[in-house]
Amino acid sequence: MSTTHKLTLLPGDGIGPEAMVEVKKVIAWLESNTDLAFDLTDDDIGGTAYERYGVPLADETLEACRNSDAIIMGSVGGPQWDSVDYDKRPEAGLLRLRKELDLFANLRPALVFDALVEASTLKPEIVKGLDILIVRELTSGVYFGEPRGIEDLGNGQKRGINTQSYTTEEIRRVGKVAFELARKRGNKVHSCEKANVMESGKLWREVITELHAAYYPDVELHHMYADNCAMQLLRNPAQFDVIVTDNLFGDILSDEASMLTGSLGMLPSASLGAPGIPGLYEPVHGSAPDIAGQGKANPLATILSFSMALRYSLNASAQADLLEAAVKSVLEKGIRTPDIMAEGCTEVSTGAMGDALIDELSSALQKAA
Ligand code: NAD
Ligand code: IPM
Ligand code: MN
Repeated sequence: MSTTHKLTLLPGDGIGPEAMVEVKKVIAWLESNTDLAFDLTDDDIGGTAYERYGVPLADETLEACRNSDAIIMGSVGGPQWDSVDYDKRPEAGLLRLRKELDLFANLRPALVFDALVEASTLKPEIVKGLDILIVRELTSGVYFGEPRGIEDLGNGQKRGINTQSYTTEEIRRVGKVAFELARKRGNKVHSCEKANVMESGKLWREVITELHAAYYPDVELHHMYADNCAMQLLRNPAQFDVIVTDNLFGDILSDEASMLTGSLGMLPSASLGAPGIPGLYEPVHGSAPDIAGQGKANPLATILSFSMALRYSLNASAQADLLEAAVKSVLEKGIRTPDIMAEGCTEVSTGAMGDALIDELSSALQKAA
């Protein structure tokens, strides 16, 4: 018997809606060709929500998200909202969604497809076969720490303040996720902070060390300063299996890791909380205002995020395997959006990439029959 999966789709701003159109093609294909059934609700987040509701995430939207099995997001932000107050900016909507659902573990896999080895700016021998998982803490740290704000110093000077803060439990729970996932992969964790200059980093290292000794001594653990990690990701990325790090370092290191894979347009993510809480699935990239509306966006990061939803929230790993295999085949056929274009390949639009994927899914199904 098939169950109907309730999905809230939040296309957002910039290239978000363009990528979501392609996700919907995949959803429609799965409905017609597998036993999966979906109940879809479209809603707004980011700048589009601000225009409609006056806030970047309306209470009703948050409720709809809470009541779904998974949330699929496009991207938020854009220069047209640069002058909006911080608490109403598009990004604040996404931060509120993460915080309200307590989605503390953000999984950002950086996987190099063989067909894209040449698309990376790094040498092929450095990136071939890479499979790194960044586990980014997502609901604490300097993104949420208090006090924060801009205060007037009264002498024509102002002071901008943010606070980096982590509690034992916040570190422990994301550490557990990293160790558990490492056991299912390469059994190695690099924990990254700046314990050399920050108290929050010192505590981070202590907690991870204790957690490891108590429950995960079988997993290989390395502590690394975050700046060194940024360098090592370019020097010798193959040394990494799972990287666990805080909110801000994770944000930066995952953008860096995306370039190992060829493009930010390839990196998906899953934001997970306690059992029973719906996961949020979103690409690592932003709204790409420079290419929005031109059919140039690579939809694969958003489609692969949906694939993570199939795997982590919808108990549909067979369909996730099918989808990921189709992505691989499309890339092997040389079908490329401009961001991953290479010599001898065929450059296609956002929509044509989605269509090629659907064709691939259909022919895989025919072959299997
Ligand atoms: P960005 O990720 O939007 O773009 C960086 C560069 O990568 C751009 O040149 C863009 O064209 C390219 N790019 C990104 N995604 C692509 C894709 N799918 N296909 C092809 N090329 C792609 O980062 P930015 O320009 O620094 O930020 C733009 C806006 O997005 C800002 O408002 C920022 O706050 C927001 N942002 C949102 C998210 C999110 O929604 N999760 C993530 C990052 C940035
Ligand atoms: C990301 C983005 C977000 C972040 C912004 C848009 C709030 O850069 O998901 O990587 O900084 O977390
Ligand atoms: Mn980011």
